[in-house]
Amino acid sequence: MDNASLPEQPSQKSVEKKQGDKQSNEASQPKAPQEVPHLEGHRQPSAQGVSQSEGAKQKNSKLDKTVAPQPTVAPKPIKAPILFTGEIPVAVRESVETPSRFPPKRIMLLLGLLGVGAIALLLGGWVALQLRQAQSQVTNPTTSPTTGTPMPQSTATTAPDGTLLGHYPYNVAPLSELQAIVPDGSIKLRKAAANAYMTMSAAARADGVNLTPISGFRTLEDQQSLFFDVKAERGQVATKRAEVSAPPGYSEHHTGYAIDVGDGSVPATNLSQTFEKTAAFKWLQANAAHYNFEISFTKGNKQGVSYEPWHWRFVGDRDSLETFYKARGK
Ligand code: DAL
Ligand code: ZN
Repeated sequence: MDNASLPEQPSQKSVEKKQGDKQSNEASQPKAPQEVPHLEGHRQPSAQGVSQSEGAKQKNSKLDKTVAPQPTVAPKPIKAPILFTGEIPVAVRESVETPSRFPPKRIMLLLGLLGVGAIALLLGGWVALQLRQAQSQVTNPTTSPTTGTPMPQSTATTAPDGTLLGHYPYNVAPLSELQAIVPDGSIKLRKAAANAYMTMSAAARADGVNLTPISGFRTLEDQQSLFFDVKAERGQVATKRAEVSAPPGYSEHHTGYAIDVGDGSVPATNLSQTFEKTAAFKWLQANAAHYNFEISFTKGNKQGVSYEPWHWRFVGDRDSLETFYKARGK
């Protein structure tokens, strides 16, 4: 089969058919879809009837009969198609009857739809915004709805003086400021405190008293382990632990100015209140102030921390003094 010849056959028949119909009734043959592009030609009154169907033609004839007696209506069909080209012929004819009302109705309908659409969009946006704000407050109730900053859950756990379970917060001393006070370097203090302690220890030795350092500077990790791990092993609750140990971040040992002292002659009293019976404690009680050391947790201290006769702190320079007394408002 010769495909190339196929498209030509219908066109030839079409040409022949058009030629045959041309004389008889050209306007009655075109189908409805063909009429639309031809409407451009309807701008010319002379071409108006060419593409009309037979039914339309009959209808037009009826209209012609009714319209004909009215001389003032006759010119209007000519103007209407010019203004609204692209309409189907029936509509054009209807426009003859009401030419001034039909277009405004369509415009009004379009404007109405646009208005309704705009209102719906605005309403939808507002509802979505309200829903999002409500959801945000439900999922993140601790955040301020106005500033977005975290809000305190409760002020019940924060004391006015900044203490936690009776302990004041302290900064961790820089490692560069530390100095060892034992040969293996395992116990360190701030340089000023270390020098003062070494001098004091030498003086006590000269008096026949054996001061033994047990603990000096502690990191946060050291205190973390002490407060949580060791005390948990002993089955102590937090408030009980705080009576003998500070929470991490709240120990005087972070400052590098505090030291736990034992009596080398009676190590069984180390970190025990029985230490107050030792010669070391009595010597410290009588002489420590000469070296700018003082006991931190006396009997019945206001912080509620247990009496610790072994825990001493250095207050021999401005930094150490401010460290321990500014927080107390003194
Ligand atoms: N033993 C004292 C309270 C401390 O842990 O810092
Ligand atoms: Zn201590």
